[in-house]
Amino acid sequence: MAGVARVESLLVQFVVSCLVLLSCLRYGNAGMTSSFVRSEYPSVDIPLDHKVFSVPKGHNAPQQVHITQGDYDGKAVIISWVTADEPGTSKVQYGTSEKKYEFSAEGTITNYTFYEYKSGYIHHCHVNGLEHDTKYYYKIGSGDSSREFWFITPPKISPDTPYKFGIIGDLGQTFNSLSTLEHYMQSGGQAVLFLGDLSYADRYQYNDIGIRWDSWGRFVEQSTAYQSWIWSAGNHEIDYMPYLGEVTPFKNYLQRYATPYYASKSSNPLWYAIRRASAHIIVLSSYSPFVKYTPQWMWLREELERVDREKTPWLIVLMHIPIYNSNDAHYMEGESMRSVFESWFIHYRVDVVFAGHVHAYERSYRISNIHYNVTSGYQYPIPDKSAPVYITVGDGGNQEGLAGRFRDPQPEYSAFREASYGHSTLEIHNRTHALYHWNRNDDGKKMATDAFVLHNQYWGRNHRRRKLKKHYARKYIDRVAAY
Ligand SMILES: *[C@@H]1O[C@H](CO)[C@@H](O)[C@H](O)[C@H]1NC(C)=O
Ligand SMILES: *[C@@H]1O[C@H](CO)[C@@H](O)[C@H](O)[C@H]1NC(C)=O
Ligand SMILES: *[C@@H]1O[C@H](CO)[C@@H](O)[C@H](O)[C@H]1NC(C)=O
Ligand SMILES: [Fe+2]
Repeated sequence: MAGVARVESLLVQFVVSCLVLLSCLRYGNAGMTSSFVRSEYPSVDIPLDHKVFSVPKGHNAPQQVHITQGDYDGKAVIISWVTADEPGTSKVQYGTSEKKYEFSAEGTITNYTFYEYKSGYIHHCHVNGLEHDTKYYYKIGSGDSSREFWFITPPKISPDTPYKFGIIGDLGQTFNSLSTLEHYMQSGGQAVLFLGDLSYADRYQYNDIGIRWDSWGRFVEQSTAYQSWIWSAGNHEIDYMPYLGEVTPFKNYLQRYATPYYASKSSNPLWYAIRRASAHIIVLSSYSPFVKYTPQWMWLREELERVDREKTPWLIVLMHIPIYNSNDAHYMEGESMRSVFESWFIHYRVDVVFAGHVHAYERSYRISNIHYNVTSGYQYPIPDKSAPVYITVGDGGNQEGLAGRFRDPQPEYSAFREASYGHSTLEIHNRTHALYHWNRNDDGKKMATDAFVLHNQYWGRNHRRRKLKKHYARKYIDRVAAY
């Protein structure tokens, strides 16, 4: 039954992707700029007394509960939460049936100050030795104020395992953010790839910064307590505020949002990799040194060598600043990272690079600009079948509003762009095919607006090569496909 529905939905997707392709063809090689203008909620944060921020009942009840993958391959989670009144217990009780907790793990407690704001007690508990593809129930806190949640571990790493990722960036805490979060939660996504800029608490001053980090944690708990969000950091995580005496970059973020960086031999929680189902996901930090010989550069060079497309066919890169962006907002900000990493993305045949930062949606064709250097004069990106698709999903709905001004004319490399709020999903079907959707929040309704079939960069080619071997008399025919 599920299989039939899946095939049916796949057929629908093919039709949609053909329509998308046709609509692109109508415009020749250049892409589409959507003329859609949505009436939006005002770009202001939800008031603190709104129910989405409500503090759970009971003395010292755990709040801001969130989980993330805790190891390289998905047999561990890191469970994090905050207690406001006293340290309390850092124990997680867990098991595979409801209300019966056979196991327990002990976490750590930290607290910190930011200007005169004093954080609650922040708990991080590493729970490992889990089975793949299994539902776990867990309980945190004690007595009457304990709370219970559940999560499902990802399936074992293997090349044809289907998996559905949500992709969200620049979320913030407005009514638009709430609309994005609610639509994502209806999408059936199993884990979120988060593209940076979480709370936008740095738009506040003094102690309100810490308070808005707390409110954001309570806001997203409805999803983050039940499934892993894979974190990457944006500029709104830096919180560099000399006027408050706060000069340690990423202080609020790093205290609250743990990542399993050590599992991928990274030396820093801001860049790391995980493998989940059939995907290898690389998280980069746009705001940490990345030029040649820096720790991030050296780590990425090694991590790309560890990628095994026979086990994880899908190679996905996350970063905050888009490398290809034709919006006036943050135009060219990704150029420095492009010049350092783009040739690796081509060499290792990255499937897709997701970025946030620009508060609008944009998707590129497969293009590259690796022949450019300061003396060559080849300054334009050109079509490149080995290149990833670059997708900007910085449209979560934060209080800075939409980035409505695109460069005109639309550059050749830009396939589709629209200034609306929304989220994306990437539904991996098997080693060769994945369905991608961008879902606009259309005035409270979810609309699939940009959709296509993504062909795997590694297996697509091998597949073709295998066919060529069989029918070597036939001439090499390039496949016509959206991607
Ligand atoms: C952390 O909590 C302890 C115990 O409540 C308190 O004494 C200490 O001042 C706090 N530290 C910071 C950095 O806020
Ligand atoms: C710069 O680009 C030109 C043309 O592609 C190439 O011949 C030359 O070797 C490049 N220079 C360096 C230092 O890579
Ligand atoms: C993956 O799924 C697509 C669509 O159902 C199918 O055409 C393709 O042959 C599958 N690939 C493999 C390797 O099974
Ligand atoms: Fe940003």
